Amino acid sequence: MPVRINPNIMATAEPPIPEAMGWLAEAGVTADRPLLNLAQAVPSYPPAEKLREAMADAARLAETAFYTPILGIESLRERFAQTLSNDYRGQVDAEDVAISAGGNHAFCMAVMALAGPGDEIIVPQPCYFNHEMWCTMQGIRVVPLPCHAGPEGLLPDPHEAESLIGPRTRAILLVSPNNPTGTVYSPDLVQAFFDLAHRKQIALLIDETYRDFLPDVPPPHRLFSDARWRDGFVHLYSFSKAYSLTGYRIGALAAGPRIMDAIGKIADTVTICPSHIGQLAVLYGLEHLGDWKRARRDEMTNRVVALDQAFADNPGGFRLRSRGAFFAYIEHPFKGQSAANVARMLVREQAVFTLPGPIFGIGQERYVRAAFANVDEAGIHALARRLDAQSAG
Ligand SMILES: Cc1ncc(COP(=O)(O)O)c(C=O)c1O
Repeated sequence: MPVRINPNIMATAEPPIPEAMGWLAEAGVTADRPLLNLAQAVPSYPPAEKLREAMADAARLAETAFYTPILGIESLRERFAQTLSNDYRGQVDAEDVAISAGGNHAFCMAVMALAGPGDEIIVPQPCYFNHEMWCTMQGIRVVPLPCHAGPEGLLPDPHEAESLIGPRTRAILLVSPNNPTGTVYSPDLVQAFFDLAHRKQIALLIDETYRDFLPDVPPPHRLFSDARWRDGFVHLYSFSKAYSLTGYRIGALAAGPRIMDAIGKIADTVTICPSHIGQLAVLYGLEHLGDWKRARRDEMTNRVVALDQAFADNPGGFRLRSRGAFFAYIEHPFKGQSAANVARMLVREQAVFTLPGPIFGIGQERYVRAAFANVDEAGIHALARRLDAQSAG
């Protein structure tokens, strides 16, 4: 008899990127039309040379083969707390910080600390698919909060969120800058969500994985200077994108002592500690690579300018609905066709690899997501030309 698989895992969507990769077998690549791979949010540049040297030096030390403290190397927790305090003009201490095995791991631990089977988390739609997948695996119900398109991108409304809060609601989750839309939430909007969460005694989780691609000022939000932040705000972060270190698996979270106690148990049980060399790498990055990181941020900002130019006339009827950080969220012109069909057609006929909107939640059939971190400005203009060629007519 076959073994029984946990029904919550069976109910969870398949990892979407490997599945979409299968479409590449039919990609319409030619000598003068190479693949434009806009599917995965991976930086197109390698880590800084000096960072790679620092990692090689670390790998030669016997001690880096061993565990670190559960919540991370103390000097890294201190340094990251200092970085948060400076960047947000707030108050974060080393004991408020946990280093994790990547941003996804930080999110999984935070959710596990706060919610269990039958509980609910309010998640703006569209959303980052791994967030939804983890909640489903835990038997936690994702309560969708629709986003509304406007000049600032796709935004959720705190009043609408309030109407969704019930006795099983444990948290509201935001991602800013957003994956998949690239939309950046204003400090006032973030504050409104925090005030709501605080009033309702639920947590506010904000995944700020892409915040290094924002201007240095003003701070993305004011929560770390709000005396109440440790009551229920959880900041989630990844070093993957900022330092182009996706394979080293280092992220972080910041939270108050009650949540941190729970995180300590989870972290010990799941990973014991994050990768030792990875932690030393990001410590090196925090100490030495501020200018390098800002130069990468400026490259991304130039790509956003290129996107605005390239999409100014809605090439082929494709409309840029939102953009920022690594992402462009594009409305396609093929009414009545599924976004998956459109995305496959773009692979087949234009060698353009995007992801269909419904991967990111309900109500997204009119959209595809293009992750432009992977292509340069010339690639962005090539994207617009190919979309123009794919016109719905
Ligand atoms: C919003 C968001 N959070 C977290 C992650 C994953 O980060 P990490 O590689 O550190 O697990 C991603 C990756 O695409 C992401 O888009």
